[in-house]
Amino acid sequence: MGVFGYIGKKNAVPILIEGIKQLGFQGFDSTGLAVFEEGRLWVAKSTGKLTELENKVNARTFNSTVGIGHTRWATHGRPCDENAHPHIDCRGDFAVVHNGIIENYLELKEWLLAEGHIFRSETDTEVLPHLIEHYYDGDMDTTVRKILQKVEGSYALIALSCKEPDMLVAARKSNSLVVCQGEEGCYLASNFSAIPEHTKNTYVLEDEEIAILTDNGVNFTDFQGEAKDKILYEVNWDASVVEKDGYDHFMLKEIYEQPKALRDTLGGRLTEEKVVLREVALTPEQIASFNKVAIVACGTAYHAGLIGRTLIERWAKIPVEIDIASEFRYRSPLIDEHTLTVVLSQSGETADTLAALREAKRLGARVVAITNVVGSSVSREAHDVIYTWAGPEIAIASTKAYTTQIEAMILLALFLAQAKGTISQEWIREIITELKKLPDKASEIFKQVSKIQQIASSIKDSACTFFVGRGLDWSVAQEGSLKLKETSYIHAEAYAAGELKHGTIALVTECTPIIALATQRDLYDKTLSNVNELKAREAQVIGITFEGNESFGQAVDEVFYLPETINELAPILTVIPLQLLAYYVSLARGNDVDRPRNLVKSVTVE
Ligand code: F6R
Repeated sequence: MGVFGYIGKKNAVPILIEGIKQLGFQGFDSTGLAVFEEGRLWVAKSTGKLTELENKVNARTFNSTVGIGHTRWATHGRPCDENAHPHIDCRGDFAVVHNGIIENYLELKEWLLAEGHIFRSETDTEVLPHLIEHYYDGDMDTTVRKILQKVEGSYALIALSCKEPDMLVAARKSNSLVVCQGEEGCYLASNFSAIPEHTKNTYVLEDEEIAILTDNGVNFTDFQGEAKDKILYEVNWDASVVEKDGYDHFMLKEIYEQPKALRDTLGGRLTEEKVVLREVALTPEQIASFNKVAIVACGTAYHAGLIGRTLIERWAKIPVEIDIASEFRYRSPLIDEHTLTVVLSQSGETADTLAALREAKRLGARVVAITNVVGSSVSREAHDVIYTWAGPEIAIASTKAYTTQIEAMILLALFLAQAKGTISQEWIREIITELKKLPDKASEIFKQVSKIQQIASSIKDSACTFFVGRGLDWSVAQEGSLKLKETSYIHAEAYAAGELKHGTIALVTECTPIIALATQRDLYDKTLSNVNELKAREAQVIGITFEGNESFGQAVDEVFYLPETINELAPILTVIPLQLLAYYVSLARGNDVDRPRNLVKSVTVE
């Protein structure tokens, strides 16, 4: 989750501990550090609170002036001391801290094991120190460049060696890393917040760049070894903003992290023509034996499950039931060994979801969990786990967990359809191509944030709003309305657009903003006619649709156009303006955006 490094004139250990503490504001499950001490590397790791690590290092005195540190949020391998960073090679000569995901680590690990290397953890990161050990040629800089040729994936990494303890080598691809130069030494961190306050001379590492730090300063090269000239920034940030990476709130930061979270969740799970879910150990025969899928979750996770229901039925042709977890147990569900149960939970600790999982297992069902927290109760008790690699979600209102849960549901639906042969190879290829484009399309939405701010200010004083749509748009409308009500405290309801006229339309006046979603091309005309009914009651209608749907754009009062994608993937894009809308309305009303009243992040009681 966070990497940190120091080389200079001062005692490295207290600096590393402070850096780790600052990185820890982003959430972590374990921490660790490595320093060069008395001719060798000294490594300490601990799971849980930082005080555990402090107790370990406080038990002795250090003279080290170089070291690396880490805060981990588990992805590959549960949270435990062995899986905490830094990771070392067989002899303990090289230590590495790493943020990101090494996508081809399984192949690399198999090869290194065959070469006689001994692994101590379940992580993807551990391949890095072993690769360095294998290729070390007396020069850390060229060795790190060499091993990066073998590695696929994303990383911000820092390597330390007892063979060249006068330097730190760092590299970046798709994960942030800054280098700061101070009077007393040089610092490296994945997040500027970890850098001591007085050190403001900062370089930002770009993709495929390497930094070599010594106590005399820092040099930069590209992956080919060509020297790079870097701009030196003088950073003067308010520390509380820095904690949130420059964003005013965690909710906004997490909304903007979605392109990365989406990319990471797809990482290593797609070839050009196939979904690869190594973590779901179901054979095609087992999949063929399921006559039903039962989806169970709460709140936002339930809304992601709604999308999963449509996609599993549409692609894998298996009937799906979906339940709110607190209702599931008490309606005596008809579940048995032919039911595939899918539970979704960001935290993996929601009491009702956990109870539903246990009930499904008791009834003999196979349980697949979709969760964001490695080692959580849900992940430990399910038969199979698909992790969403969204990173810690700190704001109470869930954003990046939702979009990555939908992505995980898409992967599962395709995986089941592939095994059953219910979907053509051509269609799978097209979906995969579009899936890979989604993170960039999600980024494009942020260019129109001023439009959302303007819509937010037009609805901020409303007493009641409706979110409407058909098909998958109705599922997203339910999440949009939850986001608005929980952050802004404005009454918001979601309706299937065709259902309004069966009663609810009586509530609609010119004071009722309606957010109408229209991304399902086969339902464009139907949704348009529902919008026309609402316009006839003088409602203010805000439309969200794909670029090119001009007739819809003209029918509504305000329109927000989304980059085009296929119908089934639309929910991931559609919800982003709704999340931003909730954020800006809440801000305009002066609410505590990250901690709305009466809510907690994880509901661990029934
Ligand atoms: C809303 C929200 C909640 C959670 C729900 C389930 O923004 O965050 O509705 O989605 O409490 O939590 P998890 O996913 O942790 O089981």
